[in-house]
Amino acid sequence: MLFAAGPLVCLGKQFAMMEMRMILATLLQRVEPNLADGFEPDFVTELSMHPGERGMQADVHFY
Ligand code: HEM
Repeated sequence: MLFAAGPLVCLGKQFAMMEMRMILATLLQRVEPNLADGFEPDFVTELSMHPGERGMQADVHFY
């Protein structure tokens, strides 16, 4: 996200970033992800654990 830098840096940057988190958190409350039928996830454990190459196939229900 480009907020510029130096003397013309956006004065609302911190507010805008916080606003984006609030909007995301609000939207995520209305999302229900479920693993796709028959999909067996595999995991890669590195610095953090994350899904393997096949990703995380899910049906996402918005309500
Ligand atoms: C995603 C949201 C936003 C983006 C991407 C953004 C981006 C920018 C950019 C690129 C500039 C520099 C413009 C230039 O070169 O003159 C700027 C300036 C500015 N922005 Fe934002 N902005 C955002 C949200 C906001 C919000 C929410 C506020 C106020 C609540 C705000 C207040 C300002 C002000 C007052 C300046 C002028 C700063 C100065 O010239 O001293 N911005 N913004």
